[in-house]
Amino acid sequence: MLQQQLAANGALSDAPLALSIVIPTLNEVGNIEPLLERLTLVLVDLGWEVIFVDDGSTDGTAELVTEIAQADRRVRLIRRIGRRGLASAVVEGALASTTPVIAVIDADLQHDETILPALYNAIAVDGRELAIGTRYCQGGSCGEWAESRRKISRFATALAAPIMKTRLTDPMSGFFAVRRSVLLEAAPALSNVGYKILLDLVASHPRPLSVAEVGYTFGTRQSGASKLDQMVALEYLELLLDKTIGRYIPVKLIQFGAIGVLGVGVHLTLLYLLLHGGNLAFGAAQAGAVIGAMTFNFALNNRFTYRDRQLKGFAWLTGLLSFWLVCSLGAVANVGIGSLVFAQFHGWWIAGVAGAVVGSVWNYVASGWLTWTRK
Ligand code: GDD
Ligand code: MN
Repeated sequence: MLQQQLAANGALSDAPLALSIVIPTLNEVGNIEPLLERLTLVLVDLGWEVIFVDDGSTDGTAELVTEIAQADRRVRLIRRIGRRGLASAVVEGALASTTPVIAVIDADLQHDETILPALYNAIAVDGRELAIGTRYCQGGSCGEWAESRRKISRFATALAAPIMKTRLTDPMSGFFAVRRSVLLEAAPALSNVGYKILLDLVASHPRPLSVAEVGYTFGTRQSGASKLDQMVALEYLELLLDKTIGRYIPVKLIQFGAIGVLGVGVHLTLLYLLLHGGNLAFGAAQAGAVIGAMTFNFALNNRFTYRDRQLKGFAWLTGLLSFWLVCSLGAVANVGIGSLVFAQFHGWWIAGVAGAVVGSVWNYVASGWLTWTRK
């Protein structure tokens, strides 16, 4: 009924929408128009739309897309405020689409759009569930990459093998097309962290998928700059952890604990320096070491574990104070539990470990609630 009414009103006079192309953007203003021109050339026979997902570009990307979209109904825009992350941006764009097939491509023209029809056809015609652009098969290459970056990419690819339910030659690729229903099946389990949405997808989907791979040459960026930074490695590690032991322990708790172990080293070093270098009495030296270690833990957790809610400026100081408070209570819990266990079992190290574990978990839970409040 609705279809007929719409058709009568001319709303369906265009080819039906078959393909949504999700394009994450962060400061890509110089690439938007060339990319749309290229897509128009290569997708002539298809009803398609693009969904840009912009995370607060400051170079006018979102304004340009808005202007284009007002004249061209194939173009849509999602603006996210105060959020970052390639993988989560792609997921949000994909969930906003209603077409049977969804493709994902970078905005910076490094992905070869001429293979998009092949990716689409692999799904729509050949019935595959997933089709990826790959640098590591016939017809594919890394283009002008330096040997060092090639090595890193291969190493990262090797690390991914244990979590991939579907074998892919290039799980690091951010260039692929997927059947909409497949994406929806994987969506609830996605980790959504970092850059590697394709890997997240095949690791999160409950079963192996049927795949087509199409080779392409990774292009060289002409305009704008890459957003890859030192955090990419950490985010990749977080994704791997989340997909393996993340089912049992939150990844943030693992990071918090790892930093805590480093903190013990800081504590002992400070204690040694204050006792022998500073000639302080034990009580004073121990107090100084505790404060130093807590501050170290706070700074590292703020920088890494909770970088998604990082405290800066004055909030850094109030955060530090609240962290000290949390840890003081944690220390009380540590001593209390330790004493209880010791009274029961008389094993000094079991009591020590039990106290430390309970104290640390308290610190983790309470600081997540008090210090790094989710905005
Ligand atoms: N919305 C949004 N939010 N977009 C982002 C963000 C973000 O936080 N970070 C990056 N982007 C966009 C960029 O604007 C670009 O369109 C695309 O994501 C890729 O970012 P680049 O900074 O150009 O990454 P790259 O070229 O190093 O990485 C590409 O190659 C990898 C292969 O090694 C990406 O395609 C990766 O997905 C791919 O794995
Ligand atoms: Mn790029």
